Amino acid sequence: MSGLDVALPITTDRLVLRAHRLDDLGDLARFHGDPEVVRFVPWPVRDRAATEETLRVKLTQTELLAPGQWLVLAVEVRETGRVVGEVLLKWASEAQGELGFAFARDAQGRGYAEEAARAVLRLAFDDLGFHRVSAVVVEGNEASVRLLGRLGFRQEARHAEAVHFKGAWVTQLVFAQLADEWRST
Ligand SMILES: CC(C)(COP(=O)(O)OP(=O)(O)OC[C@H]1O[C@@H](n2cnc3c(N)ncnc32)[C@H](O)[C@@H]1OP(=O)(O)O)[C@@H](O)C(=O)NCCC(=O)NCCS
Repeated sequence: MSGLDVALPITTDRLVLRAHRLDDLGDLARFHGDPEVVRFVPWPVRDRAATEETLRVKLTQTELLAPGQWLVLAVEVRETGRVVGEVLLKWASEAQGELGFAFARDAQGRGYAEEAARAVLRLAFDDLGFHRVSAVVVEGNEASVRLLGRLGFRQEARHAEAVHFKGAWVTQLVFAQLADEWRST
């Protein structure tokens, strides 16, 4: 199986989705260090040094060369040049993807996450030809559930207390969208 052709950057009305750069550190540290932002994601609250360590990994996550890899894109507001979040697309298995996102608290509630996620879904379905994209959410993450609904995802499963997450057993909700569903919306 050969790699997928991901053309970057991706520009939308208000945003640029692009590979991370080392000088994104200050912007990233602002939300990677926010307990509210990381509450439902697998990352710990990160200080600047830990954020830099993870940023160095993100610098390499710019291609989808083989299943199992994550494409990790910085979401920059065109008007200000600030990186307010990140969107992730995993090449899960043949023609299947998984979507992820996290945004700084003061950049939420503006539709940026929806705009960025739609651009990644266009990449997944229209450019890469994916058949199905899933998203996994910890129950209680209402903002994510609302966003996935707006994006056209259906809930497919609820795995009760299936994962030990940040010191407690949590319930996972699995959402998915098929290419046909994407095209019909
Ligand atoms: C999940 C997350 C990305 C959602 O962010 P968000 O800003 O609420 O999502 P959207 O970009 O779709 O914005 C929608 C909100 O902006 C409002 N909005 C304002 N201007 C808007 C515009 N121009 N266009 C669209 N929506 C707009 C909408 O009314 C909506 O508000 P509501 O949720 O109160 O109804 C965010 O909560 C987050 O980063 N959480 C922490 C990380 C996380 O848990 N990630 C998921 C792990 S699976």
